This record gives sequence, C-alpha cells and structure tokens, in this order.
Amino acid sequence: MTHVEQKSIDGRFDKDRNMAATAPKFLSVWDIRAYYGESYIVQGVSFDIHEGEILALLGRNGAGKTSTLRAIARLDDPALKHGEIWLDHKPLHEMKAFQAAQAGIALVPEDRRIIPGLTVEENLQLAQIAPPKGWSLARIYELFPRLGERRKQEGTTLSGGEQQMLAIARALARDIKVLLLDEPYEGLAPVIVQEIAKTLAIIRDQGITTIIVEQNAVAALKLADRAVILDTGTVVYDGSAQEVLDDEALRAKYLAI
Ligand SMILES: Nc1ncnc2c1ncn2[C@@H]1O[C@H](COP(=O)(O)OP(=O)(O)OP(=O)(O)O)[C@@H](O)[C@H]1O
Ligand SMILES: [Mg+2]
Repeated sequence: MTHVEQKSIDGRFDKDRNMAATAPKFLSVWDIRAYYGESYIVQGVSFDIHEGEILALLGRNGAGKTSTLRAIARLDDPALKHGEIWLDHKPLHEMKAFQAAQAGIALVPEDRRIIPGLTVEENLQLAQIAPPKGWSLARIYELFPRLGERRKQEGTTLSGGEQQMLAIARALARDIKVLLLDEPYEGLAPVIVQEIAKTLAIIRDQGITTIIVEQNAVAALKLADRAVILDTGTVVYDGSAQEVLDDEALRAKYLAI
C-alpha cells in the first residue's frame, strides 16, 4: 500500500509504479492548483498515467475529482494558477480548452450533454465535423451495437445507459488520446454498469488512456489498473487499484465504503 506522504525531488510520485519509474509518462499532472474565484479547491495534485492505462480517480463528495478533470481539460473554471500538465510531451497547462481538445483530451461530463433534436447518428456526425476524425461510425457501432440499432432514434430519448454509451461514443468519434469520464455509472443498473465496464476495457485495449471518476468506487477499481484518491483537493493515495480493493481500512478512511 502506498500512502503518499512525500514527493520525490522533482515533485512527482514515483513510488510503487506498476511499470518502471523511468518509462515515459504519457499524461503527467504535476502540482496543479486551481481556484473557483478565491476558493482554493485543487490544492497541488500530482499523478502520472502510462499510455493505455485506466486510472480511477476517487474520493468523497467534494474531494475535488470533477474540478481536477476540468482543470486537465483546461476549462476556464476552476482556473489553473500553478502546476503543469503534459500530454505526450505537449504542455496542456499552456492551452485553452479547445487546444487541449485538439491535443486529444475528451471530457465526458456527468450530465452527458446529448444534443436535443438530433438522432444518435447525427450526434456522432456532429462530433466529426471538424477533422481529424477518430473512429468510424462502423467501428463505433461494432463496439456499441445498441447505438447501431438505435441510430435513427433521437439521442435524448435513449435510456440512461444508452445515453452514457452515446456520450462515450461521441468522444471516440473524434481523434482522442485521453478519455476523462465523470461518473459514467451514475444512476445505472448494475447490469448496464457491467456492460459499460466491458466496453471501457475494450477501449483501453485499443490504446486509449482513461481517467474514470466514480462514486461507485468498487466498480471503478475493478476496471482500473491504478487508483488515485483525493481528499480535500490533495492526493492521499496513489497506487494499484487492487490494493485499494484489498484494503478495507483505506476505503473506510477515504471512500466511506
Ligand atoms: N463553480 C464552483 N464554484 C465554487 N466552488 C465550487 C464550484 N464547483 C465546485 N466547487 C467546490 O469545489 C469543491 C470540489 O468540488 P468537485 O465538484 O470537484 O468535487 P467532486 O469530488 O467531484 O465531488 P462529487 O463526488 O460530489 O461530484 C467542493 O467543495 C465544491 O463545493
Ligand atoms: Mg464530481
């Protein structure tokens, strides 16, 4: 178990990596500090992800998970005032949201944002208006057969699980490197959670790097390779997902499960 108490000399957490500490990090978040107005919310968060990993970003309500995802996606709020974010050697911290999106960051927010009045297919086509395109519609429908069956249906009339699939599919329709998922399992039945988890594993195996934020920590940990736990805007655990599943005391302390 790795409780993060000390940073190494360059400020990065290199203890107990699944892979060698010397392997190049694909996405590096280093000491990011972000504010909503005067409110200091993300208080020096650091972690790294290797290409093709799934990282579960966990923590209690209000711990700063959504804010961390928003900071990585370079949305205006919270404002990033300190720290660095590197994606495949590109400095995201110097970018605006649209540039981070062009660099390959895709944030799927909690409310999914399916566009009203458009069919499933039109939602996907809209994502492909600006090049470079990501996955073809045929490839997307192969991964999400339910979406293929409902391609002519209005997106907002889909079930909650299907809307989540469409939100993920729409991200893949663009040429992305990193998928940031904010509570993708929220409000979904266990059987649908399992179906989405299987799909996320396939997406990982096809080379996409994923950060999943979830209140359903057990489901996220079963899927993830690694876990980072936040508490009041700071990292309190960085290590393997399996260790968190195995450590009841840790879960009770930081996840209240
Ligand atoms: N727009 C905002 N303005 C001011 N404070 C905010 C804003 N959004 C979030 N906060 C505060 O920032 C803190 C972290 O919020 P955040 O949404 O990142 O937490 P979270 O870990 O995603 O929580 P949850 O599990 O409930 O979604 C909370 O105290 C929240 O009240
Ligand atoms: Mg949140």
